[in-house]
Amino acid sequence: MGSLVILHDALYLEDRLTRGMVRGLALALIAAGVLFVMTSGMAWAVFERPMHALAEWMRKLRFGGASESPPRGLPVSRLQDESVHLAASFRAARSKEREEAQEIVRSDKAWTRDRLRAHAIDALGGQPLVVVSNREPYMHQLREGKPVLVRPASGLVTGLDPVLRATGGLWVAHGAGDADRQTADAAGCIPVPPEDSRYTLKRVWITKEEEQGYYYGFSNEGLWPLCHLTHERPLFRAGDWEQYVRANQRFANAVLEEIGDEKAVVMVQDYQLALVPGMIKAKRPDIRVGLFWHIPWPNAEAFRICPYRVELLQGMLGADLLGFHLQQHCNNFLDTVDRMVEAKLNWDHFSAEIKGHTSLVRPFPISVQQWSERGVATGTKLASHITTLRQQHQLDGCMVGVGVDRIDYTKGIAERFRAIERLFEKHPEHKGKFTFVQLGAPSRVHIPRYRDLVTELEALADQINWKFQDASREGWKPIHFLVDHHEGPAVYAFLKMASVCIVSSLHDGMNLVAKEFVAAKAEGGAESTEREAGGDKEGVLVLSEFAGAARDLPEALIINPYDTEEFAQAIHEAIMMDDKERRQRMTRMRLRIEEFNIYRWAADFLTALAQAKGRVDPSEAGQPRRPQ
Ligand code: F6P
Repeated sequence: MGSLVILHDALYLEDRLTRGMVRGLALALIAAGVLFVMTSGMAWAVFERPMHALAEWMRKLRFGGASESPPRGLPVSRLQDESVHLAASFRAARSKEREEAQEIVRSDKAWTRDRLRAHAIDALGGQPLVVVSNREPYMHQLREGKPVLVRPASGLVTGLDPVLRATGGLWVAHGAGDADRQTADAAGCIPVPPEDSRYTLKRVWITKEEEQGYYYGFSNEGLWPLCHLTHERPLFRAGDWEQYVRANQRFANAVLEEIGDEKAVVMVQDYQLALVPGMIKAKRPDIRVGLFWHIPWPNAEAFRICPYRVELLQGMLGADLLGFHLQQHCNNFLDTVDRMVEAKLNWDHFSAEIKGHTSLVRPFPISVQQWSERGVATGTKLASHITTLRQQHQLDGCMVGVGVDRIDYTKGIAERFRAIERLFEKHPEHKGKFTFVQLGAPSRVHIPRYRDLVTELEALADQINWKFQDASREGWKPIHFLVDHHEGPAVYAFLKMASVCIVSSLHDGMNLVAKEFVAAKAEGGAESTEREAGGDKEGVLVLSEFAGAARDLPEALIINPYDTEEFAQAIHEAIMMDDKERRQRMTRMRLRIEEFNIYRWAADFLTALAQAKGRVDPSEAGQPRRPQ
């Protein structure tokens, strides 16, 4: 007997188990990978690819370029049917629109929203209109944690929004509101106006550094004082310029991205985007580009101090059409080009040719639309708004003068306050009977000069009020300085209430407040109700000779804001003017604003842009000649 001991090395079992597990795991991973690739491939082929094709087709449809049928093979058959119907309805609507357009153009009526729409279809040749500006027409700001819609105080917005509402299309602008991202889609797009969408707003996002250098720095501490002759020294910093170039490229890219490989007509707005025309043309020379400069263009001597003058001019000359408010600004611009860049000028045609590309330079004095189109309250509603405002600000029983401005040193607000002070010194009989309301929207407040200006003006208004207030006229004061963002209806109520409107810019491209005042007086509504509430049907405009509007509204009392005596005397005359003269002056201005309204401005610009050849025409390339 003995024991048989069998020793068996069972380690192989563990090995085999481990190997088996590893192999199993690897196989499972491979299977999962294959499954993943197959499912993603199928999802892409069955769902994503057709949906992308559908999105692209819809984008083209929106831009007016989708002539082909909707893509086939959509995952849901109803989607296929609906897109066929959508395409058919679009085509029918377009052809109807074209027919109506021709009808309206033939009927040769006054310039209205419809007539502009009709004209635009013709002038744009079916291509969509793309406006690009720094300032957006609709901004969302957070108030108590909720996004609230704000209409920025800007002449550019006042002018261009009715145009895009009429023509449809795309507006590309900086999304500056703190709730802008959450109210737009992933591409930054939002249909506007929110209550009645007419066009698409595409918001461009720029970084804090870019905003500081491009907007506050180069645009508003450099170009703004450079172009406005108000003795404010421009500041040019290399870092700001770099950000200006970068931000301009962002705007240009956003436009190019939206246009894709389609055609479009692009209207670039203002001094913040001077390089955009050149940047767009560098990528798409076939795209028609116009640039409208909303501020003055100074004389060549003044512009010369800008270290980046050549780059700026070259960028601007990328445009096929360059628009300014006044002929004088066009002259200054061409003269600047003549002296500062290698360009061939044709003074007969007012054009500049650079590297075979020609830019036309033309004046287009911008204007406004009628208030009645903006959905503001009229009749008893307006009357009660006026009554409330009068009570709220203790204006009862007083003739009211009004000023509406962004708080900006170019607007001559301090000069205006001093003229009011002088008025009460020279004519104490107006004390207690006349009062001046200044609506001031804070603007560009991260720039020390602008921030300080608010404080300076508040101190000046206080000082003047203190000087003239006394116990015998309780509640009355010479100046009500209301620093806030005032929305359209409140501005309208003040303009309707005012007997005198004062625009005293030290230098201004056009100044649309002057035209807004005349337009407000153009509509009677329930005149007697308004009058009972303290409204004034007519009114007198006191207007600076240094605002472009002075050329269009010579019936205003034209003043030099630097001449306090003359200025105060004009306010006195405005207060004392008899009804007949007030009516005559206002009627003439009213008729002119009605005829030369914003629709006509846009139509003229688009017509000229459509005619601008871009490329040089040898028959026109005569010997350059400067007008005498
Ligand atoms: O109209 C001139 C202009 O500078 C516009 O370019 C601008 O939108 C507007 O005034 C208001 O200025 P900002 O956009 O800087 O508030």
